[in-house]
Amino acid sequence: MKSLLVKNGTIVTATDKYEADVYIEDEKIHTIGKNLKLNTDKTIDAKNCFLFPGGIDAHTHMELPFMGTFASDTFETGTLAGLHGGTTTIIDFAIQNKGESFNETLDKWHKKADHNAVGDYAFHLGVTDLNSETKKEIKDIVEKKGISSFKIFMAYKGALMVDDRQIISLMHEVKKYGGIVTSHCENGDLIDELVAEAKASGNLSPKYHVLTRPAIAEAEATGRIIDIAFHGGHPVYIVHLTCEEALNRVREATKRNQVVNVETCVQYLLLDESLYFSVGFEGSKWVMSPPLRKEKDREALWRGINQGLVHTVATDHCPFCMDQKKMGENDFSKIPNGAPGIEHRMELLYTYGVLENKISLNKFVEVTSTNPAKIFGMFPKKGAISIGSDADIVIFDPSISHIISAKTHHHKCDYSAYEGWKVKGKCKTIVLRGTIAIDNGKNLINKGFGRYIKRSPYNKELIETEKTLVGTT
Ligand code: URP
Ligand code: ZN
Ligand code: ZN
Repeated sequence: MKSLLVKNGTIVTATDKYEADVYIEDEKIHTIGKNLKLNTDKTIDAKNCFLFPGGIDAHTHMELPFMGTFASDTFETGTLAGLHGGTTTIIDFAIQNKGESFNETLDKWHKKADHNAVGDYAFHLGVTDLNSETKKEIKDIVEKKGISSFKIFMAYKGALMVDDRQIISLMHEVKKYGGIVTSHCENGDLIDELVAEAKASGNLSPKYHVLTRPAIAEAEATGRIIDIAFHGGHPVYIVHLTCEEALNRVREATKRNQVVNVETCVQYLLLDESLYFSVGFEGSKWVMSPPLRKEKDREALWRGINQGLVHTVATDHCPFCMDQKKMGENDFSKIPNGAPGIEHRMELLYTYGVLENKISLNKFVEVTSTNPAKIFGMFPKKGAISIGSDADIVIFDPSISHIISAKTHHHKCDYSAYEGWKVKGKCKTIVLRGTIAIDNGKNLINKGFGRYIKRSPYNKELIETEKTLVGTT
């Protein structure tokens, strides 16, 4: 039996903040109490530090084959970077190639992740080809493989995009087994046309990425999927929501008592579209979809978190090095979409959210850990500091400041989206299932330590509630 005692820390959960010791036996939290006196293999003094539940990043793309290249972080490098930043579990998107069975897709993702990931991991299944055969696989995928969330893209026409009929059919099937559909919401047709028009006019620099992906395209698709979900009484999760217009579609839906689960990402809270107008090709670093938005959108998102309209803050970590970005040097539409961020999510959100009084410390825990665990069927194994939970703990020292830089980050990427940003507070020691994974920046575990996490179905009660709302407006 392996044991660890974390003494004198301040435990912060989604609801509480109190000083206590945490005693861990094997992989689980065994006891929480004041002045625990126990024989343990190891004791950590966490005085003046916060203890947060291990972060959960519900939106990552490790080694994603995309736009003619691959996201540059592997499951090994990406989960390690995450651990350095307090993220102990990721949910990565296993994305189907057209013509492939869902099980083939999942086998591929397991090959990439198993024996390689350093941190814990789960998968959403990205659906690009729903047909009579793949549909039959859904039951076992939810019930046996522990994958209760399915992703569709309403954009990337000709590559990942599915049509509304497939969305409706997928939602219907997935709900039977307690799953949830998650969606990248942008009107792919509108964007395709705007991109073609820009290119025909010789407008090819990175700034045309944002100019061809307007907020209205995101709002329209967000509203559409919410309506589709409402009509069928299906649960839905909107990934990487970026703007006020889309958030207002969510707000509207609450007026008919619909529950819409919403994620934003740290970059949409902190960065804005002016970055695309930087000189030369610099703007390509932030080419991602949807694009960064305006100041008023950032404000709406912070407010949305506090209004309970936005439930999770992820990263959409999808890094490409500059030589990969250069594939679009002469054509913005060929710049691989995505940016690095997993390592800095928690420290950025703490510094620019909690310390700037935009969100409370409890809200910080809720959106970075507890809510993703609840929505995606991992709570209270993950997302909690409570007896019986996995001992995933971030020992966070609020007195240590540091500067983010590509020179020191752990992302396998030659630039940082936050180069030179100062963060106050450090994820100093990271405990993953009772093992000290990172200590003062030093990595103490190896590749293969990460474990695949089977997830439970989405909250059945909510599914029942959604069903009863159909036709009430
Ligand atoms: O630009 C992005 N977001 N790249 C990754 C794929 C996606 O849309 O999530
Ligand atoms: Zn997306
Ligand atoms: Zn993504």
